[in-house]
Amino acid sequence: MWFAAPNRVTAGTPADSEYPRQMPFPQTRMRRLRATRALRGLVQETHVAASTFVYPMFVAHGLDRREPIAAMPGVERLSIAHAVDEAGNVAALGVPAVLLFGIPATKDAEGSGAWDDEGVVQLATRAIKEAHPETLVIADLCLCEYTDHGHCGVVRGDTVDNDATLELLARTAVSQARAGADIVAPSDMMDGRVGAIRAALDEEGFADTPILAYSAKFASAFYGPFREAAGSAPAFGDRRGYQMDPANGNEALREARLDVDEGADILMVKPALPYLDLIRRIKDDTAMPLAAYHVSGEYAMIKAAAAAGYIDERGVVLEALTAIRRAGADIIITYYAKEAAAWLR
Ligand code: PBG
Repeated sequence: MWFAAPNRVTAGTPADSEYPRQMPFPQTRMRRLRATRALRGLVQETHVAASTFVYPMFVAHGLDRREPIAAMPGVERLSIAHAVDEAGNVAALGVPAVLLFGIPATKDAEGSGAWDDEGVVQLATRAIKEAHPETLVIADLCLCEYTDHGHCGVVRGDTVDNDATLELLARTAVSQARAGADIVAPSDMMDGRVGAIRAALDEEGFADTPILAYSAKFASAFYGPFREAAGSAPAFGDRRGYQMDPANGNEALREARLDVDEGADILMVKPALPYLDLIRRIKDDTAMPLAAYHVSGEYAMIKAAAAAGYIDERGVVLEALTAIRRAGADIIITYYAKEAAAWLR
């Protein structure tokens, strides 16, 4: 429309019709502020920074070397000693936090390795905190890496028993906090787990340990490479009985609100790029600190396309991370944390 109305300041979010108008072309030329790098910098709305990254690591019990993961070039299963080294590398790049996944020596029906005070995540947490006290250790809290059937809780018949699993998750959280984890991050998608974990932590003297809840975690095909890395693919069935249907957005909002009510300190959407709409909706709805998990399949796709010479890796990664931040994520969990931090220097 070729009309001009004076600029005016409106309170709150103006309805479309009362939006402050500006003179149309040729008075307004959007390209003016794109002319130089300095001008673009002045009006840049979203920033990607290493200080918002979390680097996930796979720590394997009894391993004495770095073991490559086929579908995740550049990511390895690590011994505890290597995990300590890696945490140092991560910190040197300005990345403040690591997220630990454990691969136990043995698995059983209940996943008892998860709450073993001498379990692999507990040992790695102690070792990392001792060597790098400033680095935040976030402990992924789930049973699937520790159960012989690969499901995220106690299996009864052909289903995962929600309420029986809560007790085990709570025990795991306390054990992780006792080992020195700065944050616990439940990724199991059982109902009521944030409340159960909060109560257990408070009771055991860990009232100050925050919970980062995987609030909207979808039953996603993008986790494929992770399951190879962690050896956690379910032996039968799939995770659709507890993880969310990728088709559902309102349900993600309900999950997020429940986690807030149960005492979560930080929420998460996972995966990231295919769910940008939900990052935005949950941020707007809850105003909570929000993390997005740029998952293994998202990483693998970029790595594969870059290796084939189809895309420019650095450009694609920084654009993807920018989009995740623009959608509303405060924190990005990504296997690209180290590379991106180096590119951003
Ligand atoms: C454990 C868990 C998974 C991921 C994070 N925590 C796998 C799953 O739910 O099957 C996936 C992370 C990734 O793909 O990078 N429940």
